Amino acid sequence: MGPSLSAQTIAQEIEGSLKRLGIDYIDLYYAHKDHRPDPLEETLEAFDRLVKAGKVRYIGASNMLAWRLERAKHLSRARGWAEYCCVQQRFSYLRPKPGADFGAQVSANDDLLDYCTQNNDITMLAYSPLLGGCYTRPDRPIPEQYQSPDADARLAVLKMVAEDLGATLSQVIFAWMRQGTPTIIPLIAASTPKQMAENIGSLEVELGQEQLEVLTSTTG
Ligand SMILES: NC(=O)c1ccc[n+]([C@@H]2O[C@H](COP(=O)([O-])OP(=O)(O)OC[C@H]3O[C@@H](n4cnc5c(N)ncnc54)[C@H](OP(=O)(O)O)[C@@H]3O)[C@@H](O)[C@H]2O)c1
Repeated sequence: MGPSLSAQTIAQEIEGSLKRLGIDYIDLYYAHKDHRPDPLEETLEAFDRLVKAGKVRYIGASNMLAWRLERAKHLSRARGWAEYCCVQQRFSYLRPKPGADFGAQVSANDDLLDYCTQNNDITMLAYSPLLGGCYTRPDRPIPEQYQSPDADARLAVLKMVAEDLGATLSQVIFAWMRQGTPTIIPLIAASTPKQMAENIGSLEVELGQEQLEVLTSTTG
């Protein structure tokens, strides 16, 4: 079920976070995972108190389905409370097989993408966008949850576009998220300066409209 999002937990945990970080306020504070036993009202009111107290500037959701997000936004708006400004979900170029299990992690589905397209007061962020580096590393197999004819077809197109642009697969994935609909901010993780330079280099990669469309529409 995951950790609590009760008012008491939120009030306690913010103090621990500020102390550990040695700062006075947090720019963006996330509810890491939806926790249905705690009423949304209670959670959102507790987050709003942090914003009003100046301990947090913005609040975000993570691992939350679109309908829950909409309910939370509706509640916050009705009560005049701070609203979730973003949602952070598992998302990459390859799509998980139907019913794929990620434990506590929630993969972005079509509903969420549509919701973020239609609502420009919510930004989507993608975590694990490179699936741990499996796109380019022979020592890293594609996770079982993604292995499918759909993944084979999308990998082939990704390689073709990367080759046409003289870019790496990781760079094309990041560019596709940045230029697609909705705009998605990938959380870039790297463990070497070389990886980071390559990943940041994606900002130089501009996909043509046709490339964007073929990447998005390819299905297997
Ligand atoms: N909200 C949530 O529930 C949630 C869940 C998971 C993660 N996250 C967040 O999402 C962020 C990214 O997560 P992630 O580590 O799973 O991301 P990822 O993009 O799937 O994997 C990053 C890893 O891929 C490898 N890599 C990076 N750049 C590369 C490149 N150019 N070429 C080859 N390999 C490359 C590195 O592996 P090596 O280190 O092995 O070299 C790196 O550590 C983190 O900040 C994390 O906090 C959030």
